[in-house]
Formats: sequence, structure tokens, C-alpha cells
Amino acid sequence: MKATIALLPGDGIGPEICAEARELLELVAEKDGHTFKLKEGLIGGCAIDAYGDPLPEETVKLCAKADAVLLGAVGGPQWSDPNAKVRPEQGLLRLRAQLGVFANLRPVAPHPVAAKLAPLKTRLLKGVDILFVRELTGGSYFGAKRREADAAVDECRYTVTEIERVTRKAALLARGRRAKLTHVDKANVLETSRLWRSTVTRVMRDEFPDVAVEHLLVDAMAMYLLTRPASFDVILTENLFGDILTDEASVLAGSMGLLPSASLGEGRVGLYEPIHGSAPDIAGQGIANPYATLLSVALLLRHSLGLETEAARIEQAVADVLDEGVLTADLSRKHAVSTREAGEAVRKRYRKLAKRRRA
Ligand code: NAD
Ligand code: IPM
Ligand code: MN
Repeated sequence: MKATIALLPGDGIGPEICAEARELLELVAEKDGHTFKLKEGLIGGCAIDAYGDPLPEETVKLCAKADAVLLGAVGGPQWSDPNAKVRPEQGLLRLRAQLGVFANLRPVAPHPVAAKLAPLKTRLLKGVDILFVRELTGGSYFGAKRREADAAVDECRYTVTEIERVTRKAALLARGRRAKLTHVDKANVLETSRLWRSTVTRVMRDEFPDVAVEHLLVDAMAMYLLTRPASFDVILTENLFGDILTDEASVLAGSMGLLPSASLGEGRVGLYEPIHGSAPDIAGQGIANPYATLLSVALLLRHSLGLETEAARIEQAVADVLDEGVLTADLSRKHAVSTREAGEAVRKRYRKLAKRRRA
């Protein structure tokens, strides 16, 4: 198959982890007979430095013409002045809005190695297999913002249509899994949450009677995620709650460096990125964990290009190298490998798995 993939490495560890993603995509193309055109663009702080704009027009055009977009991370202390006029993160938010990717899928299924690393008791991690569906283009991220003399306002607004479409996406995904949907809100306080609760209830009752639904308040959910994580299947929530709960869920997986994501909409182009940020504290050292980005490549191949075999093979390759103990510094203090070594280990394993299938 022929596909154009926009690669947006961004800032901090972004270029380091995306270099591994690029080599993996090149390997998949070579081994499985595909032609991937990989085209790089600027986003975030590096784009502010070059153009004064975190999402230059060139990048918008590049992404609109691509079949899928793979992003590293944006941001860093040099662009974080609270009074700055433009910020790297605005580029990412504008890109999500432009692509219309309202459903952010963040799977959390801890590899056994996580059981040793996570601060939680091993028995709690048994059977954990969660799919977060985070609404991505609404809520307080996109509402009107303003500064007043001695105050600031971030409006949180959701329309029924925005809630319905992401609920349908989550419900369809739940149908293909264990048919359980947990909707998380703060309906005891927020008006937007009450709209979410009534809309989710109606859509599920009318269109998905075969999927079990529960509603939980986000504060309690922050606790349940650590006390009974195996009881959840698909977790549906609004933008800000989803951002916070998925970083919390990375504790179940052992590291932020292991969690990928796929952002999808009704449009043709999907956006794929690890859930972590630009990790300025370790940038430039060649020690970042590339697995979340490589697993995002797998999601890209599955959801945007329909290449299930290749996607599953990447996931198997990452699971195998974790089994073998090929661990970056976030996962192991003793025998930590570099970003390059981890990336190479996955490619080596991918080659083996590809050969095995043909044999
Ligand atoms: P972060 O996710 O960048 O880092 C949090 C911690 O996790 C750090 O200790 C970091 O070293 C570690 N970590 C993250 N990814 C890792 C990896 N792949 N391998 C090893 N360790 C890893 O969050 P932060 O420090 O709060 O934010 C830094 C910047 O990143 C901010 O500017 C923020 O806005 C931005 N950010 C961007 C994205 C994105 O581009 N999608 C996501 C989150 C944060
Ligand atoms: C994420 C990040 C972003 C978000 C930031 C960088 C805008 O934290 O992708 O989780 O909050 O959505
Ligand atoms: Mn986040």
C-alpha cells in the first residue's frame, strides 16, 4: 500500500523518539512491501523559533494532505513564560481542532514487567486492560479564555453533538471488547457534566442497549483507578479529566514512556502521539523511552492504514523486548539501554517476527 505520513517530532525528546519511529516505519515498508512517504514538519516550540507560530501554515497543509500524522511532543521551559503571547501547546491544540480528531484513544494494558515496577500491589494489576476515550476538541481547552484586571476565565462548554459523537465512538469500541462503558464526570457540581450524563445515558439506552454503562464522579475515579483498575473496560470522559486520569493510569503501566494514543474523528486523517510530553529533564541525553511512540506507530498502521498484521507485529515486538528486559532508564536503573538501543531491539524483533510469518 502507498501512504503519506506526516512526521512532527516537535521539541525536547520528540526528535529522539521520532527518529526510532521513522526507522521502524521504513522497516515495515521494506519488509511488508509498502511505500510510505515520510514528510517532516515543524510544530511547537521549534516552530515558534523558526516562524513565530507553533503551527505554521506549511505544517497544516502537510497534515491535511497526509493519510496520518505522527507527533513526538511539544513544549519546554524556554517557551513556558506565563506571559508569553504564543505557546508550543497551542500548536498541538490547533492541529487537533483542524484535523477534527475529537476521540483520543489511550489504551492501558500493563505488560508483566510493569508489575515489578509499578508501586501498586501485583494482584491489583492482574487483568488490567483499559481503553480510555478522552474527548479531545472541546471543554475548557477550547472555550473562551480571558484575563481580567485581577482574574482569569477559562470557559468550559460542551454541545450535545460533541458529547454524542464521542459517546458513539466509545460505545462501538466497547462492543468490540468487554461491552462495559464507564463514564466519568463531575455531575454533582458542573453543568457540563450534567449534560454529559444525560446525553451519555440517552445514547447508550437508545443505541447501545447491549453495552453496560456506569457513571462515576471523577474524584472517586481517581481513587478507583488505583484500587480496582481491573474492573474497567472502556472509560469515557471529557478533555481535562481524560488528560489527568491517563497520566495517573501510566502508573499502572510502569511508565509514561509506555502509553501510546490515537486521535480520531469523522475525517480521513488520524493523529498519533505518545501520551507523555517533551520530558525536558532528560531531553538530549538519548535515554528517553521510545516504546510509547513505537506503539503509536502500531495504532497508526491499524486505524489509519488498516494494516492490522503489521500493527500487531509491532505490539508483539515491543512486548517481546520488554520480556527480554530491554529497558530504558525510566523502567530500570541497573541495565538501562539507550533510546537507540531500545529502538533497534524492536526492529530486530520485528524482522524476526516478519520472517517467522513467511516461513
Ligand atoms: P512530561 O510527560 O514531559 O514528563 C513527565 C515525567 O515523565 C518527566 O520526569 C519525564 O522525564 C518522564 N518521561 C516522559 N516521557 C518519557 C519517556 N518517553 N521516557 C522516559 N521518561 C519520560 O511532562 P511535563 O514535564 O509535565 O511536561 C513537559 C512539557 O511537555 C510541557 O511543556 C508540557 O506542556 C509538554 N507536554 C506535551 C505533550 C504533547 O506534546 N503531547 C504531552 C504532555 C506534556
Ligand atoms: C497531552 C498533553 C496535552 C494535553 C498538552 C501538551 C496540550 O498533556 O496530550 O496529554 O493536555 O492534551
Ligand atoms: Mn497530558
